[in-house]
Amino acid sequence: MKILILNGSPHPNGNTKALTEAFTKGAESAGHEVVEFMVGSMNIKPCLGCDWCHTKGEGKCIQKDDMEKIYEVLDVADMIVFASPVHYLGFTGPLQTTLARFHAPFKPKAAKNALILSSNSPNVFAAIETLYKGNVGFFGAEDMGIKEVVGADNKSETVLKDLEAFGASL
Ligand SMILES: Cc1cc2nc3c(=O)[nH]c(=O)nc-3n(C[C@H](O)[C@H](O)[C@H](O)COP(=O)(O)O)c2cc1C
Repeated sequence: MKILILNGSPHPNGNTKALTEAFTKGAESAGHEVVEFMVGSMNIKPCLGCDWCHTKGEGKCIQKDDMEKIYEVLDVADMIVFASPVHYLGFTGPLQTTLARFHAPFKPKAAKNALILSSNSPNVFAAIETLYKGNVGFFGAEDMGIKEVVGADNKSETVLKDLEAFGASL
């Protein structure tokens, strides 16, 4: 499988990255190809809502920015993993912005989705779970799993092994 990870963390060596790295190690050991984008450090502009993509653009966005690199992978990915630290009970701004740019292709080809979240506190995941599950339904995809990691568990050996096993199980 070709797996696309959209990582919303602003930290290249942060908690979320540790989780996606462990996941990637497992997935690659099972023969999958993984492509990860740190969307917070990319030039991805908000959706204009202009609908050029659905009137004249034949599914292409009128804006030319780093989203073009992601569209290339979205076109062929079999699975999308949304990975984010919790920021005020939601995805980070850059990840939510990237998600809204799915408007051009509308529904990704990927038949599988997963969610990886990192937070400081427990009981902060409900809003993102609702968002994620709603989109999985809208995409007509299958939820392959949700991993939520809190506080000191971030970067713990047990959690990283669990993420690696998750990737390897796909
Ligand atoms: C702007 C901002 C907002 C945050 N909001 C929350 C929050 O609502 N709930 C929570 O438990 N942690 C919150 N956190 C903490 C992060 O989710 C947590 O530290 C996470 O592990 C950071 O992951 P990272 O190293 O990949 O950035 C917030 C952090 C920042 C910087």
